[in-house]
Amino acid sequence: MIPENWLRALERRRAHFQWTDSTTLRLVHDEDDRIRVDRFGPVCWFYCYRDPSSAELDAMQLFAQAADSPHWCAQLMQQRGRDPHSRQQFHSDMPDEWTAKEEGLQYYFRLRQGLSPGLFLDQRANRRWLRDQSANRSVLNLFSYTGGFSLNAALGGAHQTVSVDLSRSFLDWSRANFTLNGIDAEKHEFWPADARYFLRGCVKRGRRFDLIICDPPSFGRSSNGVFRLEKDLPLLLRGVDGALEQNGLVFLSNNYEGWDQKTFAQRVRETLPPERYRRVELPDADFDVQPTASHSLKVIALRKQ
Ligand SMILES: C[S@@+](CC[C@H](N)C(=O)[O-])C[C@H]1O[C@@H](n2cnc3c(N)ncnc32)[C@H](O)[C@@H]1O
Repeated sequence: MIPENWLRALERRRAHFQWTDSTTLRLVHDEDDRIRVDRFGPVCWFYCYRDPSSAELDAMQLFAQAADSPHWCAQLMQQRGRDPHSRQQFHSDMPDEWTAKEEGLQYYFRLRQGLSPGLFLDQRANRRWLRDQSANRSVLNLFSYTGGFSLNAALGGAHQTVSVDLSRSFLDWSRANFTLNGIDAEKHEFWPADARYFLRGCVKRGRRFDLIICDPPSFGRSSNGVFRLEKDLPLLLRGVDGALEQNGLVFLSNNYEGWDQKTFAQRVRETLPPERYRRVELPDADFDVQPTASHSLKVIALRKQ
């Protein structure tokens, strides 16, 4: 049986959205405190913050059908901080790769590539906003993952996008997302690099951008050592400041659970103070991914004076 709260969540989405086979949408957000559900076209993806019971796994199958998706995947989230490959998944018989759409744009999704299949839906309104800000701009996307922000910037008319991520496979995935949407990836740049050192190189060479996106993880490891947002934010922001054109725009976000929106804004302001950086209004999150007390994206956008 499908739990009542999941069914209520689905009804609320039905009343608010119309979806097709390829639509991406969060179906269960704060309606369940331990399980979230994203629909990525033909697949319902269950982020499980506790082990699901066998009855819940059965319910996932039924829920996916009720949401018009033939496949489902349950991704266990609780082994945070350890080897991502050890995190368990349960799933129906489904392809390793598929495509789905967000606002007319197509994205590749993959089954065995980490906790998410390839797109963070809570950034949808920000992707839309960035698309609108990008015409004739040079855009740097740091911690670019599968290139969602870069793709929106390119489709919004950016004359140049530069994506930086430590992972070559995420950069290949980003190129594939560009190609899927009819954009020549060869005309854009994809750098496998540590964002901190990439920025340092830009400052050294005098390379500047009109728009910088910086959405770092809370914690990460690389050959350059550990990245810890709490410790590394000032260094990142000094790099952003050095690589941003006068009158340029910076979009910053993160999911670090140790900060709320106010603390994040205060930390940012220690390096990018109001005398030099004016706050820019960002859109509210969409209906299906409204911020909640337990999980919320921290975001701020500033314009350099
Ligand atoms: C939170 S995801 C970014 C999500 C992305 N901005 C989006 O919305 O599509 C974090 C990404 O940062 C990358 N990463 C982690 N540490 C890094 C570092 N020091 N420099 C560059 N990329 C890094 C990871 O490979 C991962 O793709």
